[in-house]
Amino acid sequence: MSNSARPMKSFKSSGLKGEITIPGDKSISHRSIMLGSLAVGRTTVKGLLEGEDVLSTAAAFRAMGATIEKHQDGSWTVDGVGLGGLQEPEDVLDMGNSGTSARLILGIMASHNISACLTGDGSLRKRPMKRVTDPLGTMGAEFHCRSGERLPLYIKGAQDVLPIEYELPMASAQVKSAVLLAGLNARGKTTVIENKPTRDHTERMLTHFGGEIAVEPMENGGNRITVTGQPELTAADLIVPSDPSSSAFPMVAALLTEGSEIQMPNIGLNETRTGLFTTLREMGGEVIIENERIAGGEPVGDITVRSSNLKGIVVPPERAPSMIDEYPVLAVAAAFAEGKTEMRGVEELRVKESDRLSAVVAGLRANGVEVEEGEDWMVVHGTGGKIPGGGMVECFHDHRMAMSFLIMGLVSEQPVTVEDGSPIETSFPIFRDLMTGLGAKIEDA
Ligand code: S3P
Repeated sequence: MSNSARPMKSFKSSGLKGEITIPGDKSISHRSIMLGSLAVGRTTVKGLLEGEDVLSTAAAFRAMGATIEKHQDGSWTVDGVGLGGLQEPEDVLDMGNSGTSARLILGIMASHNISACLTGDGSLRKRPMKRVTDPLGTMGAEFHCRSGERLPLYIKGAQDVLPIEYELPMASAQVKSAVLLAGLNARGKTTVIENKPTRDHTERMLTHFGGEIAVEPMENGGNRITVTGQPELTAADLIVPSDPSSSAFPMVAALLTEGSEIQMPNIGLNETRTGLFTTLREMGGEVIIENERIAGGEPVGDITVRSSNLKGIVVPPERAPSMIDEYPVLAVAAAFAEGKTEMRGVEELRVKESDRLSAVVAGLRANGVEVEEGEDWMVVHGTGGKIPGGGMVECFHDHRMAMSFLIMGLVSEQPVTVEDGSPIETSFPIFRDLMTGLGAKIEDA
């Protein structure tokens, strides 16, 4: 446990009730600052997530010349410098805990004639950057990294970045976005081939800012995505939907606790993000989606969740990219479901904010849940009701570990302690307030 660790504990709760407004989508918030900074003119963003990760992105773009401000009405404005107009930052850029900030910024810097040093916290400094330095190196950027291609690293962007065609070796929206964002400032067309569809917020937002981007569906279910370089990006107003990944925590809490019914309006329903909702419904969860509509170029809807008896299922591996951040909380739901839940094709969980496969397995075992683990899979043996709890869970600087196991403590026989809840600030700063407002018992430990 580090000196600044903030242990938290959750206790058996029931009857969660009420309507909550989930903060803005993290992926869309990052991109709104990034594309706003590259556009000409003033972009206004409503509903920006004010979590530490997004604030790291904002600080980096300020250091490169964009003007980014919060206004009294809660909206944010970004005065862009225009594509190619970023200045060299004077100091090292600290990306904190945020892999999305680091990898997408490297894509943007790769096509700007600037040098910079990037670092991050203890979790981000362990995460692989080769997945972006490889394609961006082919496009002409130079990198010097710490061993294992990790942060801190030094990047020198290409004076004349080369357009490439790149087939993603793994299902990653961050890598896809890094290459597309580098291609944005190349002369010619840059193509990314993704064999499994991943979140498409970069593609949607580029279109919204006047970029030219073509998405051709392929026979294998993937996409061929081509961006035409050097467009005039024009400032555009944005409304950020509520984050479906954050909504997953109160959703699972309401499903598992007795006598609960909660409402969460305006949740992002982009189909590249909603795998968990489908999965929980297949498990028998009452997750009702109403008023589906388009807001700010993204599908959204209002969600009602009621307590339900869940049963274990096999989660299809091809669904993984659309729920990649939701496996920790799904594992908690699976522990209480009747029968076993199989999650396969989840090798990417090993390189998230923590090695989420080992971290989740350890957390489940510490609370008396039977679970099996392989290189790219996990099988949780649900009890169909009671689990002992009472464990102390190590979170490894991972916000989703902390939130998932605090949810577990709301339903286990004994309270669950997470060794450090402070990383929750990165993505969902009001998590605890919202949860206690619904009636959940969560305290500092
Ligand atoms: C993100 C992509 C995903 C996801 C992360 C946010 C994004 O990462 O896990 O939380 O905003 O592009 P990968 O691209 O590594 O799968």
